[in-house]
Amino acid sequence: MSATIIDGKQVSASIREELARRTAELKARHGLIPGIGVVLVGEDPASQSYVKSKERTAEELGFYSKTHRVPVETSEAEVLRLVEEFNRDPKIHGILVQLPLPPHINENAVIYAIDPKKDVDGFHPVNIGRLHMGEECFVPCTPNGVIELLDRTGVELKGKNAVVVGRSNIVGKPVSMLLLSRHATVTICHSRTRDLAAECRRADVLVAAVGKARLITAEMIKPGAVVIDVGVNRVDGKLVGDVDFEGAAKVASAITPVPGGVGPMTIAMLMKNTLLAAERTL
Ligand code: GUN
Repeated sequence: MSATIIDGKQVSASIREELARRTAELKARHGLIPGIGVVLVGEDPASQSYVKSKERTAEELGFYSKTHRVPVETSEAEVLRLVEEFNRDPKIHGILVQLPLPPHINENAVIYAIDPKKDVDGFHPVNIGRLHMGEECFVPCTPNGVIELLDRTGVELKGKNAVVVGRSNIVGKPVSMLLLSRHATVTICHSRTRDLAAECRRADVLVAAVGKARLITAEMIKPGAVVIDVGVNRVDGKLVGDVDFEGAAKVASAITPVPGGVGPMTIAMLMKNTLLAAERTL
């Protein structure tokens, strides 16, 4: 058996087309231009490259975008001041502070400072709480992208065993909650899980989000399972996922590649949240 490759590049391109259309409509009907404000502290290469793609995508969709690039030694007070400035700016509908922040800045203090109505990352406790309550909220971008990929691939989640490997606030926990809201039976695995292979083998849908290169091997996958690989690991200068793609593709029915799977979906979902934030001001 050879798995269907879930093409995140193609799916994200068609989502961006839809978003560009809705953005043009919002402009024509209401004179409203979605605006995104980004804060980037320091010069981490991965963060710089994410922020650049965010700016490029925002421009491509016709958004207004403003980025504060500040040096790594910037104080927490100054970062909080920049967030406040975006909170008050009516041209900005979505705020994103690129993580990770340098160790002298309290990440949670910065996240708490973002106006929940502009929290397009969905990291503020108000949005996390609303997600858990099943209320309307900003859904974190990568988990939202995972669900969107599953939906657009036609994967039914109701009653299925979904296993999530990883329990981060950014991916593992929120994606588990979203799978639960789709009526999957969800298991969350992590570094202390006793028999990871056995847990994974029960998965109809397996989401790997631990950040350990090729941790998930073919023997850990139930034949016919759908495998979503959120991992982005650099090995010998090459990007690889948390799943051993070559082996897994022989066992799974569908699988996301790295790169070109979940990655391109994240920015598309960020733009979708920013458009929603703008629409919600009407
Ligand atoms: N760093 C890695 N992923 C993300 C993300 O989704 N949002 C932000 N703000 N920082 C990140």
